[in-house]
Amino acid sequence: MHAAYEVPRISVAGHPPAAADVDVLIVPVAQDHIADAVGAYDAAVGGDLNSALERGEFRAKAGDMFSAAIRDQAWRAARMLFVGGGPRAEMGAERFRRMAVSAAQAARDQRRRRIAWVDAEPGTVAAANRIETIAEGLTLANFDNGVHKSKNDQQFFFTDATVLASGAGAGAAADSGRFIGESVNAARVLINEPGNYLTPRVLADKAAALAAVPGITAEILDERRIEELGMGLLLGVARGSSEPPRLLVLRYEPAGAPKGQTLGLVGKGITFDTGGLSLKPADGMERMKDDMAGGATVVAALRCIAAQKLPIRAIAVVPMTENMPGGRAIKPGDILRGAAGLTVEVNNTDAEGRLILGDGLWYARQLGATHLIDVATLTGAVVVALGKITTGLYGSPQPWVDHVSVAAATAGEKLWPLPLFEEYREQLKSEIADLLNSPGRPAGSITAAMFLKEFAGDGPWAHLDIAGTAWAEESKPWQPKGATGAMIRTLIEVARAGFP
Ligand code: BES
Ligand code: MN
Ligand code: ZN
Repeated sequence: MHAAYEVPRISVAGHPPAAADVDVLIVPVAQDHIADAVGAYDAAVGGDLNSALERGEFRAKAGDMFSAAIRDQAWRAARMLFVGGGPRAEMGAERFRRMAVSAAQAARDQRRRRIAWVDAEPGTVAAANRIETIAEGLTLANFDNGVHKSKNDQQFFFTDATVLASGAGAGAAADSGRFIGESVNAARVLINEPGNYLTPRVLADKAAALAAVPGITAEILDERRIEELGMGLLLGVARGSSEPPRLLVLRYEPAGAPKGQTLGLVGKGITFDTGGLSLKPADGMERMKDDMAGGATVVAALRCIAAQKLPIRAIAVVPMTENMPGGRAIKPGDILRGAAGLTVEVNNTDAEGRLILGDGLWYARQLGATHLIDVATLTGAVVVALGKITTGLYGSPQPWVDHVSVAAATAGEKLWPLPLFEEYREQLKSEIADLLNSPGRPAGSITAAMFLKEFAGDGPWAHLDIAGTAWAEESKPWQPKGATGAMIRTLIEVARAGFP
């Protein structure tokens, strides 16, 4: 197996770009401030920037890139790579992250070992946040999907990245961005792993290892413990598999953090979703190896929350199992009883995520979580509603949902609220049990969220449906094909903001 990523050394330096001894200098350019870039850098590249602008080869639109040799002998770097940002007013965190990934990826394609980012364009993001995002983006770019290719001798990673910026806090911001980038890459590796390698037991071990940073304690519950706790929903889904289920619990409870409030992150950990006896069609089923993306997301987020020593209590709970149609599998029409005491008529074994999350949410509350957020590749319906661009957001009460929305905006990630009107609750009614797990096609992502709400208690709870956003079907300059790591930064921003 080859390395999936390499975490570059990232340093911050205050010297002028001309003094940077690197292979390539990356220069961000806002479309409506091109003249600044020409004034500062055109002479160094012998007028090539201006000619590219005149030819229309580079217009500084978002994602535009132009590479030129540095002719001025007084400069120490060999090349300059200009990367467009579009209008300055549009240059928020997401734009900067994409620019950093695209440019660093291009530098990798050119086999540059030492790269530098010139923090010459402010966009709309505060300096520390911008430098953090850039460091994160540079780290994300050093990712290679070919881990299981036996011949991968073309693999190349850059080793050093310098951010040319000044100001107090720049170094800490870069360190933090690098750590977040590393954590997102590690989550992506787990999400990309195929179901035969990443069984529930393996996921539990690997996720605990990923979370092994100072301040986090990990506990892996086996099937016996899960049974003792009465988690009949998780056990029901696991019945169809010969692999035993696991439940991962991570706790971050720093001394001095207020005891009355605990953030509870719950992630869906289905290591492969065949649909069970309500079997999915063969076409596209291979994608269902990513059905533990929510679990990987909450683990990576908690890792960052602990590493940043944020002054809040936070826990992560990840129920893990395969959803398989084995001989002992649950059958449509079966009734399961969860740890919360609620009974569920399983009319469709493919609506398994809400089952295991029901027990997971209950357990997070048992452990003292007061403010819940669950993350799950939960429904195809959210992909119909919001496509692969936007994460679905659901929850109550409104201030908590808004809190998550604001965090996503700060993080530069897209999510959008969908309503949980009481009338939808009708669809969850079963003739023979407390709840029905598959209430039909209308409002499919909303009724899935309504199901979870039954297990979330009366306190603040938000649900993020990442079925559309967890996986990129095609590679983009800023995102390789496969796992995206969506919502990790949003969860970190939630924790940074504290409780509303
Ligand atoms: N893991 C799937 C949801 C999913 C679908 C994720 C497409 C990514 C892409 C989930 O377990 C599922 O199968 N949901 C069903 C629910 C239905 C049976 C009520 C769905 O969305 O079809
Ligand atoms: Mn399913
Ligand atoms: Zn699923």
